[in-house]
Amino acid sequence: MPIFSIEKNLDRRGTSGYEYQRTGGRSMHRQRGMAAAVLMMMMSSNFLVCKHLPSSLSLSAGLVFVSGCTCEAAFIVSIKCGMCLLLILFGALILGLILLLGLKLFCQLTLGMCRSTTSMKGKTVIISGANSGIGKETARELAKRGAKVILACRNITEADKVKNEIIETTGNEDVLVKKLDLSSLKSIREFAADINRTVTKLDVLIHNAGTAHMFGSKVTEDGLELTMGTNHFGPFLLTHLLIDLLKRSAPSRIVIVGSELYRLASLNLNNINPVNGFPAYLYYVSKYANTVFSLELARKLEGSGVTVNCLHPGMIDSGIWRNVPFPLNLPLKLIVKGFFKTPVQGAQTTLYLATSEEVEGVTGKYFLDCREHGLSSGVQDPALGKKLWELSEKLVKLEPTDPHI
Ligand SMILES: NC(=O)c1ccc[n+]([C@@H]2O[C@H](COP(=O)([O-])OP(=O)(O)OC[C@H]3O[C@@H](n4cnc5c(N)ncnc54)[C@H](OP(=O)(O)O)[C@@H]3O)[C@@H](O)[C@H]2O)c1
Repeated sequence: MPIFSIEKNLDRRGTSGYEYQRTGGRSMHRQRGMAAAVLMMMMSSNFLVCKHLPSSLSLSAGLVFVSGCTCEAAFIVSIKCGMCLLLILFGALILGLILLLGLKLFCQLTLGMCRSTTSMKGKTVIISGANSGIGKETARELAKRGAKVILACRNITEADKVKNEIIETTGNEDVLVKKLDLSSLKSIREFAADINRTVTKLDVLIHNAGTAHMFGSKVTEDGLELTMGTNHFGPFLLTHLLIDLLKRSAPSRIVIVGSELYRLASLNLNNINPVNGFPAYLYYVSKYANTVFSLELARKLEGSGVTVNCLHPGMIDSGIWRNVPFPLNLPLKLIVKGFFKTPVQGAQTTLYLATSEEVEGVTGKYFLDCREHGLSSGVQDPALGKKLWELSEKLVKLEPTDPHI
C-alpha cells in the first residue's frame, strides 16, 4: 500500500492549494481544498492498488462535473448524497415493513369466517382435491357437521391418510375416498359412473381441486392443456355427468373455487385449449373460465333448484405453490408463511356457500370472505359464457347420450 503525504502550498499564480505526494515519489495532483486532496489521494491509492479503477484525475473531474462545483464541494456533496441514499434505503425498508404489517393486519381484520353452524346430517357432499390445503379443511368441517363426505382425489394413498385423520378428529365414520383425476376424461367418467351407481342423493358438489404450474406446458392424454384441463374442462364434464343426481336432490348446491387472479387474464375464444401457452398465465385463464362457467351454469340451471356460486378463498398457504421453482420459491415461501391465510381460514367461504342458510336459493354470484363480491364486466358477458360452453362441450367430447345442461 503506498504511503502519501499532503501539504499546503502556493502555486505559480500564488493561489493556495493542497498537494499530495507519494512517499519518496513525485508530487501528484494538486487540489484546491484539503478534503478534495484527501479524496484524490484515496482514489490514487485505489488506482495504484487496482489497475482497473479509473484514474484519480478522471474521478475528480467526474465528481466536479456531476456536482458542478469545486473538488472540495464535490467531495462533501458525495458524502451527503451517500448518507441520503442510505437514509432513503433505510426509510424504504421501514416503510415496506410497515406496509406488509398493515397488509397482514388488514387481512386479519377483514377475514370472513363462516358463522353458520348448520348441521349437515343427512347431507352428502362431494369435494374434489380434498387431500390437501383448502379442500382437506373444508372436508374436515363438513364431516364435523355430520355430512357424508366423499373425498374425490387422484392420490388415493394420500386421500386415505386424510380420510383416517378426518374420521379420527371428527368422529364421523361416513367419509369415503373415490378416485378422480380431473386431467383425465376417462377417470372423470369412471368416477361419475361410480357416484351415479352408489349415491342416491347429492346435496353439495364442491369443485375445489386445482393445479398451477409456472413453466413447461403439458398436454393431457385427451389433448387438453393440463392447467385448463384440470381446472376448467374436468369440472365442466363432471358437472354434466352428475347434474341429474343434483337435480333429483334439489335443493342442492354447486360451489366452484375460483380466484381473484382471474382479473389478470382474459379468455381467447379462438384458442380455448392453449397447448403452447405459458402455464403460469394459464392458471389465471383457467380461473377466468371457472368464473364464466359458474355464471353460465347458474343461468342454465335457473329454476332447477340447483344453485351455483363461485368464490375466491383468499391467498392461502397451501400446496398450490408447490410448483414454483427455485429460487423464486424462497422469497415466495417467506410471503406465503408470513402473510397468507391458513387453509382453515381459506376454507371459510366454501363452507359458507356449502352450508349457510343465508345463501339458500342464491345463485350466479361471486363471494369473497363470506360476502358477495363484484365481478369484472368481461366475465359477466352472457355471449362469452355461451361460447365458452359450446367450445367446452366439444373439447370434453360430450356424447349425445350424456346429460346436457
Ligand atoms: N392457495 C391459494 O392461495 C388459492 C387462491 C385462490 C384460489 N385457490 C384455489 O383453491 C383450490 C384449492 O387449492 P389449494 O390452495 O388448497 O391447493 P392444494 O393444497 O394444492 O390443493 C389442490 C388439490 O387439487 C388436487 N388436484 C390437482 N390436480 C388434480 C387432478 N388432476 N385431479 C384431481 N385432483 C387434483 C390436488 O391433489 P394432489 O395432492 O394429488 O396434487 C390437491 O388435493 C384450487 O382450485 C385453487 O386454484 C387457491
